[in-house]
Amino acid sequence: MTRPFAASFILPYERFLMPSTTSALTGITPFIYGTTRLGDDKIPRADRLKVAHAAMEAGLWFHTSRMYGDALEVLGEAFRESPTQVPKLIIKIGWENIDQLRGSIEENLKPMGLSGIQLGQLCLGGDLAEDYARGGDCYKVFQQLKDEGLVQGYVVEAFPWTSDPSVRALRGGYTDGLIDGFIFYLNPLQRFPSNQLWDEIQARNQPIIAMRTVAGGPVHRLRDVPGFAWKEYLQQRAVQVAPIFERSGIQSWTEFCLRLAHSFPLVKATVGSTGRMENLNEFLWAKENLQPLPADIIQDIQALQTRWSDQVDIHAEKWSM
Ligand SMILES: NC(=O)c1ccc[n+]([C@@H]2O[C@H](COP(=O)([O-])OP(=O)(O)OC[C@H]3O[C@@H](n4cnc5c(N)ncnc54)[C@H](OP(=O)(O)O)[C@@H]3O)[C@@H](O)[C@H]2O)c1
Repeated sequence: MTRPFAASFILPYERFLMPSTTSALTGITPFIYGTTRLGDDKIPRADRLKVAHAAMEAGLWFHTSRMYGDALEVLGEAFRESPTQVPKLIIKIGWENIDQLRGSIEENLKPMGLSGIQLGQLCLGGDLAEDYARGGDCYKVFQQLKDEGLVQGYVVEAFPWTSDPSVRALRGGYTDGLIDGFIFYLNPLQRFPSNQLWDEIQARNQPIIAMRTVAGGPVHRLRDVPGFAWKEYLQQRAVQVAPIFERSGIQSWTEFCLRLAHSFPLVKATVGSTGRMENLNEFLWAKENLQPLPADIIQDIQALQTRWSDQVDIHAEKWSM
């Protein structure tokens, strides 16, 4: 078994001479269990624990956050019950300034009873985003937190309205050796980095973790059931994507979505959530066939995504979509 949180035996000076070339994404599972549904108190806690245990049993990596209700407490309970099955975790960290970084990690660790996690998902705003864009002091803190074993690596979150700092950081070469990749909504209805950042990520072969595997639910329900889509634009996109899904001949939306994510060569994993055993089982079944979708299907979805990004996403009000 690996020792994910053990202190390094390499002295800082030697570390400087031998920068680590091993990505913290090594061994990532192609489907990651997202935990928003574990924090939904409308689902009986025993049922949430059951799904958490099943996802742990399956050996999946998990994605979580302090923002998902009591998901961290549910996870803490599951980890105490099955300490040998504690998954590798991605958690949301960061915020507006350097001083918040450490606390944003620690507030997650305590309820889960852990001393460190695999990946910090850097959610960067305000001064911290600006510091990251210009190669500032935040990189020293990223390294320190890594040296202390609180995290093994980092992925940077990208939304349409947070893409620009990443374009600048990549072009400046500041992320090299410390940032392991990017994480953002990528599913048939959403591709959230700006087109500029998307192109930069492709040109620089940056690993991607895709989020919201099934875009919130089956495409026909998103299209046809009033109020099922969280926002109107998702219903409108479902109208455009449903015929492409139907043309593929694939029966399962979950299979279509997992295969779409993994049709992009830089995608290492896709993060989806469920509070139901039957839907977890569908994710687990679908992850066994990650064959890329036919080229014409990918082309049509990519064309829509490029257009949506320029015409809608980058003009959107922050956090409105
Ligand atoms: N900024 C961020 O960091 C960020 C933002 C959003 C999401 N995320 C991460 O990504 C994960 C997934 O995001 P998400 O929950 O928004 O999107 P999602 O996984 O695309 O959708 C989950 C929804 O789809 C339903 N569902 C799942 N499988 C289904 C199936 N086979 N048939 C019908 N319905 C199905 C689930 O309901 P049931 O519970 O009823 O199955 C749930 O309501 C989150 O848990 C979180 O970890 C991160």
